[in-house]
Amino acid sequence: MKSKSWLDWLDLKIPSIDKEHRNLFNLMGQLSEEINLNEGKKALGPILKTMREYSQYHFAHEEKLFNTHKYPDQQSHISAHQNYIAKVKEFELQYDSGEFVDPTLVLLFLKNWWTNHIRKEDTSYSSFMIDRGVK
Ligand SMILES: [Fe+2]
Ligand SMILES: [Fe+2]
Repeated sequence: MKSKSWLDWLDLKIPSIDKEHRNLFNLMGQLSEEINLNEGKKALGPILKTMREYSQYHFAHEEKLFNTHKYPDQQSHISAHQNYIAKVKEFELQYDSGEFVDPTLVLLFLKNWWTNHIRKEDTSYSSFMIDRGVK
């Protein structure tokens, strides 16, 4: 029997947002594969950069929705996005300066952060946005 994928319980029922979340998890899947192939150290730099850029794109999308629809809880949500970007930049800086950054720890951080953020903060806006016709 096929196990229920994470997507079933992280799905917000907002297709444009869910698609981006799925892309972010696919990127984490890529990092996981590279780690399994023992290529994690080499792959980490480019994946971190793509991860940061795509996260910024995704956050800009959400924050535009907050602004357009005057979402009430946006300040703390935007702070959470900013703290995450700061953390990813910190990993990138360490990596770029030649410091050892453990790819497994980065992957763990990413998986935990995204899972918690979607379950808590993102889930909090889903019905608000669905009520306003966001797809
Ligand atoms: Fe999100
Ligand atoms: Fe968010």
